[in-house]
Amino acid sequence: MGSLRPVPALLAMVCGVFACAPSTGATLPSPITSPAHSPSDVGAPGIGDPGFPLDGNGGYDVAHYHLKLGYDPATDHLTGVATVQAEATQRLSRFNFDLAGLKVDRIAVNGAAARFARDGDELTVIPGEPLRRGDSFTATVSYSGRPAPIKDSGNLGTYGFIPTPDGAFVVCEPNGAKTWFPANDHPADKARFDFEVTVPAGLTVLANGEMTGTPRTSGGKTTYSWREQHPMATYLATITLGRFELRQGRTRAGVANLAAADPKFRSSLDGVYTLSAEITDHWSTVFGPYPFGSTGGVIDDFPTGYALENQTKPMYGGFAPETGVIAHELAHQWFGNSLSIRRWKDLWLNEGFATYAEWLWGEHKGKASAESVFKTYYGRPATDPMWSYPPGNAQSKDLFNQSIYIRGAMTLHALRRRVGDETFFRLLKEWTSAHEYGNVTTDQFVALAEKLSARRLGPLFDAWLFQPRRPAEW
Ligand code: ARG
Ligand code: ZN
Repeated sequence: MGSLRPVPALLAMVCGVFACAPSTGATLPSPITSPAHSPSDVGAPGIGDPGFPLDGNGGYDVAHYHLKLGYDPATDHLTGVATVQAEATQRLSRFNFDLAGLKVDRIAVNGAAARFARDGDELTVIPGEPLRRGDSFTATVSYSGRPAPIKDSGNLGTYGFIPTPDGAFVVCEPNGAKTWFPANDHPADKARFDFEVTVPAGLTVLANGEMTGTPRTSGGKTTYSWREQHPMATYLATITLGRFELRQGRTRAGVANLAAADPKFRSSLDGVYTLSAEITDHWSTVFGPYPFGSTGGVIDDFPTGYALENQTKPMYGGFAPETGVIAHELAHQWFGNSLSIRRWKDLWLNEGFATYAEWLWGEHKGKASAESVFKTYYGRPATDPMWSYPPGNAQSKDLFNQSIYIRGAMTLHALRRRVGDETFFRLLKEWTSAHEYGNVTTDQFVALAEKLSARRLGPLFDAWLFQPRRPAEW
């Protein structure tokens, strides 16, 4: 059957037929803040994160994304077929993906043509027959166009699919996966990924996980296949591509290690390779076994000004990372990637832990102790903006505020002082093993800390995470 074109006039027609949403604006009939269950049979356009009301979607749970993509840096043109396997968590007469820009050519659900409509970054899919709660289904979305990154005027900067002169730098936190594939674009819905990406011969594609098979070249094009076998948040997915120098091998402990550098950063390739190996192995003794199939690091020449902990492949945007940054991004493989937040307000569970890992690395190397770093920050005047921003409640408008990082890390140090080193480090390992590959909340961390220490820690966490002032004691 013919699919609806993504134009408002026909959107109105969908609504006529299905007695559903208004055709314009970001409103759809079910409450956008409802979690995965909507009272009706319409999947909510958001997964239920109050700070990010339209991110992710309700009503289904993705198990796997297969992304078959082609990209040509000469024209910036992307073609894609995304095959999404999911389970309906409610009856669904329609459901949404997040997708920004790009043109949708066709959608099939369980092999049958489905209708669809676009409204902002919401792609609504109307299967021929409603899905029943508990049904597994496959949605196949064929699309193409010129992907564009998100340029946030606030503190998020440029993120998503970022074209570069020789390829693309793909770094998507917090919600830029939708710039290159139809996604349930929220860390609360993790899934496994397969990537099959075709590019002009001579370019390298660096996606998550490990390569499956050797790249195949024919007709001047090369196809790379990658698989991330462990669940992954959509913002950690990448297909960074371009001209790269590579170094591959294993860490001493035997984890596959891949470093890549844009030719401009050739001289930093060995450093990234060696440090990533050493740090991965060290964190495996501190945080628990390395959760993924490989480690590494990628330096591209686009100046994002930040790094991103893409699963198995941290990426550094336009700079050769110092050891501390590598220690930070690799700590995220446990804190953020294996254990992912359910709501963005809990971002300190990623950034506070990764920042504390930087302090631990310095301590491990006989540089400044975590205690002395803590004291330096504690010495900031009471008027410092960090003290008025409670890190336990990250704000969507200011998601990566330095309080999330620094005061988040200070929270962990205050905890360590209170419970002692033995309990603290046991807690870190217990935390990563109890929730490996899952989703977590601050409440769960507090509960585990109280259980392992047999202490009431509510006041400590409240002062450090939730009060808009400098904690009086620690
Ligand atoms: N999680 C990254 C880090 O390790 C920061 C990502 C910033 N993202 C952005 N869009 N500015 O610090
Ligand atoms: Zn970080």
